Amino acid sequence: MNKGTILVTGGTGYIGSHTSVELINAGYGVVIIDNLSNSNRDVLDGIKRITGVMPDFVEADCTDMAALTRLFETYPGIKGIINFAASKAVGESIQKPILYYRNNLNTLMNLLDLMPRFGVKGLVFSSSCTVYGEPDLNPVTESSPIKKATSPYGNTKQISEEIITDVINSGAPFKSILLRYFNPVGAHPSAEIGELPNGVPQNLIPYLTQTAIGIRKELSVFGDDYNTPDGSCIRDFINVVDLAKAHVVAIERMLTDKSEAPIEIFNLGTGNGLSVLQLIDAFERATGVKVPHKIVGRRAGDIEKVWADPSYANNVLGWKADTPIEETMLSAWNWQKKLRERGLM
Ligand code: NAD
Ligand code: WQD
Repeated sequence: MNKGTILVTGGTGYIGSHTSVELINAGYGVVIIDNLSNSNRDVLDGIKRITGVMPDFVEADCTDMAALTRLFETYPGIKGIINFAASKAVGESIQKPILYYRNNLNTLMNLLDLMPRFGVKGLVFSSSCTVYGEPDLNPVTESSPIKKATSPYGNTKQISEEIITDVINSGAPFKSILLRYFNPVGAHPSAEIGELPNGVPQNLIPYLTQTAIGIRKELSVFGDDYNTPDGSCIRDFINVVDLAKAHVVAIERMLTDKSEAPIEIFNLGTGNGLSVLQLIDAFERATGVKVPHKIVGRRAGDIEKVWADPSYANNVLGWKADTPIEETMLSAWNWQKKLRERGLM
């Protein structure tokens, strides 16, 4: 069974690798393009160990129009694209804005430019809950106001959404689905693939698992004086495999002409807000491992609370994120242990 070939940009990255697995499991052929700026080739072996299939891989940069064009010439049957390739560190984007605008926007524009030429029918784009900033009301729906971006990274997501909208409205011969992820966490239950943070992790879960295994002395909880029940920030932590599955549904929707509009937007979250302290507790309950932590001051730029109303995705896509948080935390822990076994951390 081959339902067609999907190009996964950034496919050796965290979410891209999990999505490649789900695409292969659903019967799609997968071609990955990645410049390995934030991932490595071993991820391909992990995908093969899970699925039995080694995806085709092109090591190239999506900002390189000539390389992308060659890829489409080599694989003339590409039906859809899932565009994960982007730089994603919020703090780094403030230091290196041009890198972020160039990488994230040129990648997108190159793909949009080539899609009609090579008859590609659909584009899934990785957007983010960061577009909502600090919401006035939770949970946020797809029509909640877009707030001014607080980082160049966040701005690339807002501008990307606008670029795709303009291109679709110009009468482009393809469809697009924008997926706004909340906080993706966890790893594949096989522990063959997961998140590979570079250097000292900035995000909560990799910092937490590295603390639990003893690489870091203690986890700093950034603030307990927020206007939330326990004073720590609230997020919508979504299991990465649940998230990956939504991409398969989105691709299928466009390729089978089920889209209700040429461009559609969906929030991908669980609908449950969990505080940082509740998450630490869930990790400890799930794994039996204590996480040394201390409360420190707030981190500049943090949102107090944000969680999704995922009902539009639930009802229209027939998709739901339903992995219990304890299971997700266990998967993150098993992945951390696997990295240690392999001598990678
Ligand atoms: P990741 O860094 O693990 O994966 C991105 C991959 O893209 C990496 O393998 C990197 O090497 C590759 N890449 C970057 N620029 C490239 C280029 N120009 N050409 C080819 N490859 C390139 O990140 P992720 O967490 O898997 O995120 C995937 C997407 O989802 C990104 O667009 C990110 O902005 C978005 N997103 C992530 C989160 C999150 O918390 N992880 C939340 C919301 C949105
Ligand atoms: C989560 C919570 C921290 C680390 C980021 C991007 C966002 C999106 C998802 C891409 C916050 C707290 C963290 C630590 C802590 N990415 N924390 N100690 O900031 O919600 O979102 O990733 O689009 O755009 O901004 O995620 O994991 O960094 O933080 O207490 O060592 O954990 O303060 O409340 P965040 P995060």
